[in-house]
Amino acid sequence: MSLKDRIEKLEAEIAAAAAKTAEEVERFRVSMLGRNGTVTSLFEEFKQVASEEKREFGQRMNKLKQSAQARWEEMKSGIDQGPASEQGETDPTRPALGESVGSLHPISIVRQRIIDVFARIGYTVSQGPEVEDDHHNFSALNFAPDHPARDMQDTFFVEPLDRSNQEIDPAKVLALRTHTSSVQVRVMENSKPPIRTISPGRVYRNEAISARAHCMFHQVEGLYVDKGVSFAELKGTLDYFAKSIFGPNVAIRMRPSYFPFTEPSAEVDMSCSICEGKGCNVCKHSGWVEIMGCGMVDPAVLKNCGIDPDVYSGFAFGMGVERIAQLLYRVPDLRLYWENDVRFLEQFSDGAFRA
Ligand code: PHE
Repeated sequence: MSLKDRIEKLEAEIAAAAAKTAEEVERFRVSMLGRNGTVTSLFEEFKQVASEEKREFGQRMNKLKQSAQARWEEMKSGIDQGPASEQGETDPTRPALGESVGSLHPISIVRQRIIDVFARIGYTVSQGPEVEDDHHNFSALNFAPDHPARDMQDTFFVEPLDRSNQEIDPAKVLALRTHTSSVQVRVMENSKPPIRTISPGRVYRNEAISARAHCMFHQVEGLYVDKGVSFAELKGTLDYFAKSIFGPNVAIRMRPSYFPFTEPSAEVDMSCSICEGKGCNVCKHSGWVEIMGCGMVDPAVLKNCGIDPDVYSGFAFGMGVERIAQLLYRVPDLRLYWENDVRFLEQFSDGAFRA
């Protein structure tokens, strides 16, 4: 019998399978999906399929395996009614259907883990508005009036939409916040050092949606301001963060970078947690992945927010939660986090990805 005929025959067998006792359920599993099971042995034969047919057969066989598994689970959970022809009266002793419990969204899980790591070293959580004014999102953070990040290309403006109107007070322009650094400006304006806080939240940028970019994502940004805060403390804090989330074997390194609100600024790389630095697709064979931006708060920013830069110094950092989730859960396509397909969402638990 050809492979195709055998697949069809098996499809029919799976659909018609019925089991009344736990032994019968187990017998079905062993005969189909066990090490020498019919479905399993088909996969052995797959090696011989001509390469131009591999795609089609591969798909059909995966489907077959999934339906065998699904059928087995149905029978196991006692909801199997058997083939329609054999259905008799309802058996009142049959166990009730299990109730399915919801699960946290993977981004919520990761965000909470990040918050917990910083809470342990004394960081509070601060929140602010998602519709933000120019002052908090840009000006106070030292973005020059003609900085490209203010451009329509990156920012979703809320009002006024026509910014060419000279009459409008630039500080009153409203936009969807492009980062949660805006929250840190609010905290600095409203409190006195020492300040140790993180601001988790949703941010928006006008990007085309693809597997690697989305027009909205989540950040956790951190801020520490006190007397004598040093770059060494920044590095120590981020090393502690990376090891707390990804385990004791990861290392971080810093590369000089530029942000208008920090000086000096750095990009933080972590040794690739997926291949342990050996090189893989995720780290593009470099052994390192970028995880966040950071730097010492620019004295001009402290001043803009009413903090005396001659007395105080500080550091700040900011990361994308999706990026951290991607490295933890190995989900390469960012769009999946927004589709809310329950089959995707229920795979995540507070511990790790149930692979
Ligand atoms: N706000 C920056 C961003 O959104 C991240 C950052 C925060 C960089 C703090 C340095 C210091 O990309």
